[in-house]
Amino acid sequence: MNIKETTRKYVMDTYGRFDLVLARGSGCILYDDAGKGYIDFASGIAVNDLGYNNGLINEAIISQAKKLIHVSNYFYTEPQALLAEKLCKSSFADKVFFCNSGAESIEGAIKLARIYSQKISKRGHKIIAMQNSFHGRTFGALSATGQSKYHKGFEPLLDGFAHVKFNDFEAVNEAIEGAEGKDYCAVIVEPVQGEGGVNLADKNYLKRLRELTAKNDVLLIFDEVQAGLGRTGKLFAYMNFDVEPDIMTLAKPLAGGLPMGAVLAKDGVAKAFEPGSHASTFGGGPLVAAAANAFFDEISKEGFLEEVCKTGEYMKSKLDGLKAGFAGLIKDVRSIGLISAIEFYSIKAKDAAVELIGEGFLTTAVQENILRFTPPLIIKKNDIDLFAEAVAKVLAKKEKNEPR
Ligand SMILES: Cc1ncc(COP(=O)(O)O)c(C=O)c1O
Repeated sequence: MNIKETTRKYVMDTYGRFDLVLARGSGCILYDDAGKGYIDFASGIAVNDLGYNNGLINEAIISQAKKLIHVSNYFYTEPQALLAEKLCKSSFADKVFFCNSGAESIEGAIKLARIYSQKISKRGHKIIAMQNSFHGRTFGALSATGQSKYHKGFEPLLDGFAHVKFNDFEAVNEAIEGAEGKDYCAVIVEPVQGEGGVNLADKNYLKRLRELTAKNDVLLIFDEVQAGLGRTGKLFAYMNFDVEPDIMTLAKPLAGGLPMGAVLAKDGVAKAFEPGSHASTFGGGPLVAAAANAFFDEISKEGFLEEVCKTGEYMKSKLDGLKAGFAGLIKDVRSIGLISAIEFYSIKAKDAAVELIGEGFLTTAVQENILRFTPPLIIKKNDIDLFAEAVAKVLAKKEKNEPR
C-alpha cells in the first residue's frame, strides 16, 4: 500500500502533513518506514513526554487491557479513583472530571464556570479570554481561542467571549470592574501560551488577576493542557507563578500518549456540578487511567522534575547561543523548562521544520515565524547538542539566502 496516497485519498484534508511516514519509536527517536531515525523535539504535539516504547506505560496498558478496558461511569473503577486522588493531592484541586482531550477539558471548564455562575456566584455567562490564546477546535474551545485564523469559516461562534490582550492586567480589570462587569463569570488564561509561540505570563499579572477575580467571585481558569504535568519543570505550570486557579484543564501527556483530558477544581466550584450536569462515555476509563497512573507516578518520582529543570536550562543556554550566533535571523528565544521557541525575523517556521527533518530532527511550526520545541521530558544533553548543531547548520544556509 502507498500510505501517503491512501491517506490523501481517504482521510479528510485537515492537516498540512510533513512528507514522512512514521513507523515506530524508541526513547526520543522516531523511525520512518525506511528505518531512518529522527530525534524528536515535538513529542507528537507535546504529548509523548516519556518518549516512545516506554516500558512503564506499555506494562500499565497491557496489564490493564487484560483486566478491563472499558466500563461506563455508572460504576467505580480503581485506576480512576487512584488517578483522581493523585491529581488532587498534588495540586490546588479537590475534585476532577475526566474527559478525552484538551478541547473537551475546555468545554468542561466552560460548562462548570457557567453553572457555577447560575447557581452560586449569580453573575452572567460571559468569559474573558486572551488574544493569541489556543484552547482547541470544538465550538466552546474555539470561541475561547483568541486567534481569528482558527475561527474563519465557522462563525457564528459561541456567544459570550471577550478577548483581551495577554499580560495586560488593566484590560481585564476594566472589563470586570466596568459597567457590564457582572456579565463575566470567569477568566481563562494559559500561564504559558504554547500554540501562541511560548509566551509566558508575567508573575505579577497572574497575581493581580488572582486578586481581582477572587474579590469579584469570578473564576480563574488556567489552561494547562500543553504546559501542565512537568513540561515547565514543575508538576503544574501555575507552580512557577505562585498563583492558584479555581479551575485547571489538563490533557496531552496525561495518559502517556492515550487520549485523556481532565478538569480540576476546588470543592466550592466543583459542587456546582451534580449527577447529570456533565458526562463523558469514555472519560477516565480504566485503560487510559491506568496509563495515566503510570505516567503520573514517573514524573512524580524524586528527582524527575529537577532533571527536567536542568535539561531545560541546558536547552535554554543552547538557544541563547544560537540567538547570539544568528542575531540577524533570530528575533527572540523563549523558554521555560522543556518548552521553548525560536522566533525568526522572516524565516518561515514551516520551512525551518522541513529542513530540520532533513537533518533528522522533528519540531513544530506554531506561528508563521515561530518554531517550537517540546522534546520528551527524558531528552538528554547529548541530543540537545546534536539538535543545536543541526539548527545552526540550517540557519547558516539560510543566512546566505535570507539576510534580515
Ligand atoms: C493550551 C491548549 N489547550 C487546548 C488544546 C486542545 O487540545 P486537543 O487538541 O487535545 O483538543 C491545546 C492543543 O494544542 C492546547 O495547546
